[in-house]
This record gives sequence, C-alpha cells and structure tokens, in this order.
Amino acid sequence: MAESSTVTVSIENAIATVTLNRPHKRNAMSPTLHVEMAEVLEKLRYEPTSRVVVITGAGESFCAGMDLKQFFMELENNPPEFDRIYRIATEWRYRTLRYYPKPTIAMVNGYCFGGAFSIVEGCDLAFAAKEATFGLSEINFKHYPGGSVSKSMANLLRPRDALFYAMTGRPFKGDRAKEIGFINEAYPLADLKREVMELASEIATKDPDALAACKDGYKFSLEMSSEAAMNYSAAKSDQLTLRQKGSWRSEGIGDFLQGKYRPGLGGHEKAGG
Ligand code: COA
Repeated sequence: MAESSTVTVSIENAIATVTLNRPHKRNAMSPTLHVEMAEVLEKLRYEPTSRVVVITGAGESFCAGMDLKQFFMELENNPPEFDRIYRIATEWRYRTLRYYPKPTIAMVNGYCFGGAFSIVEGCDLAFAAKEATFGLSEINFKHYPGGSVSKSMANLLRPRDALFYAMTGRPFKGDRAKEIGFINEAYPLADLKREVMELASEIATKDPDALAACKDGYKFSLEMSSEAAMNYSAAKSDQLTLRQKGSWRSEGIGDFLQGKYRPGLGGHEKAGG
C-alpha cells in the first residue's frame, strides 16, 4: 500500500501494521494525520491480504494525543476547518474503529495521552508495554477529556477510575492500565511486539466473516434493548450463513462430528484439508 507522510502501513503474514509516524512530535495527531489515518483505514477495510489491523506508534511514543498546536491553536480562528478536522478526528477513532470489519489491536509502545485514549478504546483489543506512560492529561492544561475521549472512558472504565484520572491528570504505567481494564495485558517493551504479533497471527487464522459477526454482535447489542438484540443476532446469524455459504455448519460442525478436530481445544485449521 502507498504510504502517507504521517502514517505508515506494512502488511506481513495477513497482519497490517499501521504506525502513527510523527516521532519528533511524539506522534501527536495533527490535522494531516487525522485525514491520512481516515484514508488508510478506508483502504485497509477492503484490502484483501490483511485480516487483522495493529495500530502502534513510531519511536518511543504511541501517541501524545491531539496536536495541541496545530489543532487547538492554529485552527482557533478557522471554525469551518476546525469543525472539519474535529469530525474526521472523532469519526476514525470513535466510529470507524468501533465498527471496523476486521479485528483491530492497539499496541501501546510508549506515551499515550488524551485523545490517544480513544484509539486504544476504539480498538477491539489493546496491549501495552509495562514501561508505557498513560495519562488523561487534559486537566493539566485546564481542559477536560473532550471530543470522543469522555465517551470512550465511559464505555470502558469504571466511574471511579475514569474520573480519578480525568480529574487528576496523573500519569500511570502499563500494569495499572491492565489493572483498571483499559488494556488486555501489559508486557515488557522488549516482548510487546512478539506477543501482539503472535496473538494477531492466531486471530488471523479464524474465519473473517465469523470475526466480523463477533464484533457486530457485541458492539451493536450494547446499544440495543434485549429484544432488539435477540432479533438482530438471529438476523446476523443468517447473514453469516449466507456470506460463508454455510461453512460453519458443513465444515465447522461437520468436521467436528467426523472427529477431525475438537472446537473446544482449538481452531478449525486443526481439522486439516
Ligand atoms: N501536541 C503538539 N506537540 C506535541 C505534543 C502534542 N500533544 N506532544 C509533544 N509535542 C511536541 C513538543 O512540543 C515538542 O516539539 P518541539 O520539538 O518542536 O519543541 C516535541 O513534540 C517533543 O516533545 P517534548 O515535550 O520535548 O518531549 P518529551 O519526551 O520530553 O515529553 C510528552 C513527551 C508527551 C510527555 C510531552 O511532550 C507532553 O506532555 N505532551 C503533551 C501531552 C498531552 O497533554 N496530550 C494530550 C493532548 S489531547
């Protein structure tokens, strides 16, 4: 895939690694980065060789949040452009990632502040270096977790933790991020990439339509009544059957019933053939 200036993409073994690439600015999200990230996610959505998307940062930082200079200062007197970038910035982190058809993993390799929390929350899974530093730093510059960040926090964190970090701006490390449920696991930085790529490879072996249904079933049902969710789930199952041409029955269950593999102990690839 063609690379943009502030975001790079590499695809290897069915895993697309998307790297925020402004290391000299700690990968703060400039207006250009937001536009390019939206374009990259749109291209990867339909890109056939990648099955899982991993988002990380170049250098020692994951993402230092919004580019405070280019977004808040330089666009202060340009409301139409501010609104345009604001919409793109919230769109890709909050909506595009949330309802993305491919599994997404945040790999937090270093600093993760403010607006970057919405990237982590928007991804399906998140892993961080134990050494990484997180912070809802907005309060420290007399602001608050604006844009999509407050809602992202409300989605994921317990009220006590969300408000504690939003009101103090205190930084915390990877282990604490795991403890409060913001990430799945923290690893030593030296092991982070290997661990994440191993997991991404495992997920890449699963049926892509079934993975998309996993995500939709969970994420859309959060916002539905129970009755609507049951109905949606039944319809989703029919959609999955259609898209897979019924292979979850014929191969998934069929190969189990023929004794070729045990779904309780591993994936269908163990059935061979
Ligand atoms: N917006 C704009 N520029 C930023 C930035 C941000 N969020 N974060 C870092 N930068 C820039 C710095 O201004 C500096 O630019 P310069 O070299 O032109 O002076 C460069 O990135 C390096 O930053 P520096 O502070 O020197 O690096 P550091 O490693 O000592 O500290 C941070 C890194 C991330 C702890 C610190 O830069 C910081 O606190 N940034 C703000 C984080 C924040 O509050 N983000 C929330 C935004 S919603």
